[in-house]
Amino acid sequence: MGRVVVIDHPLVQHKLTIMRDVNTGPKDFRELLEEISMLMAYEITRDLPTEEVEVTTPLARGRFRMLAGKKIGLVPILRAGLGMVNGVLRLIPAARVGHVGLYRDPETHLPVEYYCKLPPDVNEREIIVLDPMLATGGSAVAAIDFLKERGARQIKLMALVAAPEGVRRVQERHADVDIYVAAIDSHLDEHAYIVPGLGDAGDRLYGTK
Ligand code: URA
Repeated sequence: MGRVVVIDHPLVQHKLTIMRDVNTGPKDFRELLEEISMLMAYEITRDLPTEEVEVTTPLARGRFRMLAGKKIGLVPILRAGLGMVNGVLRLIPAARVGHVGLYRDPETHLPVEYYCKLPPDVNEREIIVLDPMLATGGSAVAAIDFLKERGARQIKLMALVAAPEGVRRVQERHADVDIYVAAIDSHLDEHAYIVPGLGDAGDRLYGTK
């Protein structure tokens, strides 16, 4: 079973509380999501391998640790996942960015892929799927399905707010995927919105409500 890591850092929780506030406008919402994404990236990369290299300081020569060159890929789920990309890139500027676009078929209610462009070496990269709201888990499961079909082997999921239903669904369908979130809220309402949540993340990011 994949791990579920709730990033309970005071800065993350403070910023998330401001994002939840209905009076927070798109400019602040975007900036806060970027900042939280950067802070979460610090935690999600905790297990990256390092290697010793030799460096000469102004005083002495020594051996010190650097990242061992593991390749990272970020895959935001369109559209709200885009709001997390820049924050993560600030910490991992060498990461490549793929995109997955999904819509829900109005009749079958199943997610349908309408766009997918991934780095060609997706099978060699540790992939971090980005989507702020892990609600039913339908989009996250479908995006991870598509990534695995295209060869991705190491995948983590980074969300801001999750519902217990979404966490369970990803764990059931993709037991190898660790999930990182800033909060697990109470439940989903009848429209599959997370309660208390923060509303529609895409609309709040881009002012389209
Ligand atoms: N997507 C959102 O943007 N918000 C929710 O609460 C659920 C899904």
